[in-house]
Amino acid sequence: MPSYLITGASRGVGLSADSNNTVIGLVRDKPATEKKVKDELHARSNIYILQADITSYSALQARHNQTPGSYSSTNAPKQNAVAETAKITGGTLDYLIANAGLISHFDAYDPIGVLGNQPEVLEQGLLECFKVNVIGNIHLFNLFTPLILKGQAKKVIAISSGQADLELIPKFSIDLAAAYSISKAGLNMAVAKFSAQYAKDGVLFMSICPGVVETGQFTSATEEQMKSLSGMFAKFVEYAPHFKGPSTPESAARDVISVMHKASVEKGDGGSFVSHFGNKQWI
Ligand SMILES: NC(=O)c1ccc[n+]([C@@H]2O[C@H](COP(=O)([O-])OP(=O)(O)OC[C@H]3O[C@@H](n4cnc5c(N)ncnc54)[C@H](OP(=O)(O)O)[C@@H]3O)[C@@H](O)[C@H]2O)c1
Repeated sequence: MPSYLITGASRGVGLSADSNNTVIGLVRDKPATEKKVKDELHARSNIYILQADITSYSALQARHNQTPGSYSSTNAPKQNAVAETAKITGGTLDYLIANAGLISHFDAYDPIGVLGNQPEVLEQGLLECFKVNVIGNIHLFNLFTPLILKGQAKKVIAISSGQADLELIPKFSIDLAAAYSISKAGLNMAVAKFSAQYAKDGVLFMSICPGVVETGQFTSATEEQMKSLSGMFAKFVEYAPHFKGPSTPESAARDVISVMHKASVEKGDGGSFVSHFGNKQWI
């Protein structure tokens, strides 16, 4: 029975439809997600919901790893994600999908030089993106790798973004979302470093971009902000003339999971950064 742990799973990615899969969703709002699972999926018995903010090391950490005084545990929930996962799976984990991410808004509509007019806001935004998208995921990988090493599939996938591709950005002058993109580039390097350490143990660490997906992130944008966005979307069309608009979360999740299942350490995919097509075509 393959086990999957997915962070930021408050919307679901379709893995639980196969009752052979044990699907553990790690979310920040457990009651709301449990209600959703109950209402929309009729409380499938192969779904488990755990609660943790990935920036809280103590909420993720298994108790026996806790070094007194090293991290504040004052805000730690009674439950901790690694220990709870081990209880559900019997001490192993096959797939870890690091989907949770901060899609920042402060940098979504202006290029980096304009953001520089408010240096404190820029600095704070960069730090927040780095904290969630890089540091949170590094803690997640370090804490769950012992379970992954005991699993069968041994796959760890980071959900990244084509916005971190060094060829795409300058070539098509995609100047928005700087802090977000910088943090996703950092995440890609973290994934490469984990792969460098663990490929010899058969663990695949890999970054996959899901494509452009409609998840409502721009619903509160003003008319002027929408103008900036439409400029970026025009660049997407220039890059990929077939681009007709964002895909649905369901279809993006299917694509990412298919790439994940096809990839392996043996095929040389360790540490790579690819799209939902499994290559460097981002849209
Ligand atoms: N949508 C796109 O077009 C697109 C394109 C490329 C890459 N991506 C990536 O795909 C992933 C999912 O994106 P999305 O569009 O679904 O974004 P989203 O709607 O903003 O969802 C982000 C998820 O991450 C969770 N999250 C954020 N900060 C967290 C933290 N500190 N601890 C735990 N969970 C946290 C959120 O939890 P809450 O529900 O509690 O807020 C939410 O479930 C992200 O990594 C994003 O960067 C998206």
